[in-house]
Parts: sequence; C-alpha cells; structure tokens
Amino acid sequence: MKVINNISEITSYLNGFISTGKKIGFVPTMGALHFGHLTLVNISKEQNDITVVSIFVNPTQFNDKQDFEKYPRNTEEDLKKLSETGCDLVFMPNEKEMYPEKEFKKFNLGKIEEVMEGRFRPGHFQGVAIIVNKLFEIVKPNNAYFGQKDFQQLAIIKRLVIITNSTVNIISCPIIRESNGLAMSSRNSRLSKTEFDNASIIYSTIKQLSDFIENNKFSEFKSWALNNINANNLFKTEYIEIVDSKNLEIVTNLKNHESITCCIAVFCGQVRLIDNIQINL
Ligand code: PAF
Repeated sequence: MKVINNISEITSYLNGFISTGKKIGFVPTMGALHFGHLTLVNISKEQNDITVVSIFVNPTQFNDKQDFEKYPRNTEEDLKKLSETGCDLVFMPNEKEMYPEKEFKKFNLGKIEEVMEGRFRPGHFQGVAIIVNKLFEIVKPNNAYFGQKDFQQLAIIKRLVIITNSTVNIISCPIIRESNGLAMSSRNSRLSKTEFDNASIIYSTIKQLSDFIENNKFSEFKSWALNNINANNLFKTEYIEIVDSKNLEIVTNLKNHESITCCIAVFCGQVRLIDNIQINL
C-alpha cells in the first residue's frame, strides 16, 4: 500500500493508471476508521482496478472548533487497517496542501443545505462540498463511495457532481451497525461503555416508524420518538425529522411520497450522533 501526502505526487502516480484506462475507486474519509469504512473499501475493490482512500480531518466542515479538536485521530491504526483490507493507495495531505487559499468557493447547494444538519451546523455542507470537490479534482475517480449514515451528505454530494459537471459516479453504501444497532461512526469511540450500550435506543426508536405508519399514527411518531430518547438522561435529541428521500422536503403527510427518511441527531454529552432509516411506501 502506497501512502502519498502531496498533490503533485498523487497526480503523477494516478495519471499512470488513468492513461491505461484503469478504473479508480475512491473512499474519502476523515480517518478514525471503523468497520463501516472498511466495507466501503471492500466494495470499491470489487468494482475498480485501484482503490484510493483519503484521510483528512477537514477543518472547513466543523462549525464547532472543539468538535474539530476532539475529532478522533488514529493514523497508525488507520494505515494498518487499510493495508490489511488491501487498499492500494492512501492520500493523507496536510491542511496547507489542501487549503493554500484563504477564500473559498461557495457552492449553490439549494434547499437541501438548509434543513436538518444544515440548520444545526451552519456552513457544514459548504465545507464538505469544498473538500470533496477538491479531492475529486485531485483523485479523478470513476466511482466514489459514501455511507448512507450521512444521508444528507450523500444528497449534497450528488448535487455537487451535478452542479460541477463532474463525471464521478456516487455510490451509496448501506449503514453498518454495531451489534446493539448503533450506527458505526468514528465518534462512537468517544462514548463510555454505558453511553455506548444505552445509545442503542436511537436506532431502536427510529425503527418503530414503520409500526406507527401501519397503525395510522404517523403524525404521532416524532413527538413520541423525541420523548422516548430524551427520557434517558444520557441523551438529548437535537432534531428528528421525516423527509422525502429524494428532495429532502419535510413530510407532514404521507400522500405523494414514494420513499421517506427519518433522520435524527442526538447529543450524548459532547458527542453528537446521527442516524436515519429509509422507508419505501
Ligand atoms: O463523511 C466524511 O467522513 C466527510 O464528511 C468527508 C466526506 C470525508 C469529507 O470530509
């Protein structure tokens, strides 16, 4: 496995593959890799000739400085895991390499930037769009792999490739869960054992949406779910929202929707956990 830190080196290395028509699969990450990331790498390996993983904790997507500083970093472990999984190339730039400029481009991400994560983390998706766009321009992948846990991020990236006329094919991959149902996330490593065990309540709660729909109690779900989670004093729900899976418009009535997604963000102390569940109607 090759590890490259600078743009000029990765560009000339990958040009060799591009000129021979080899397919490049790309998994962008912020490191602190877990089994979910490695699943993306495995899917990429099956579908491409070479798999590139980037590790870069992107400062522009953190609206909370403390969250950025506390974001788990574990490069040595990450490289070991990637090498064991059979990743071909790791791109690990530093901040100067990725952000030589002071002013950033603003992307027109539309209304999907304003709800849920966008509402509670102002500027977050601009930061994601900036870095993903830069990484796509550097790696020039055929296929890029993202986990569905970051459901809204996926919608943003699909829009990004449209507005930038990018040819990268965005592949969304299923959420990988811990055995207690908690969605795998780098942030889970900041939970205590008790918090981790109790955090199963997030998925077990949103999973009940389908029962509420079957019992014609859709309109009661959100307040029930909020109370159910907040009754455990380890947790404080930041938002729970049900949106149309395609355009992310808030759903208040199930008519005229083919698929809906219930998205949730919950604080466990300082640690912010997100999850979602999609229901095809
Ligand atoms: O999902 C993530 O880990 C990040 O948002 C991403 C896509 C690597 C951009 O920094």
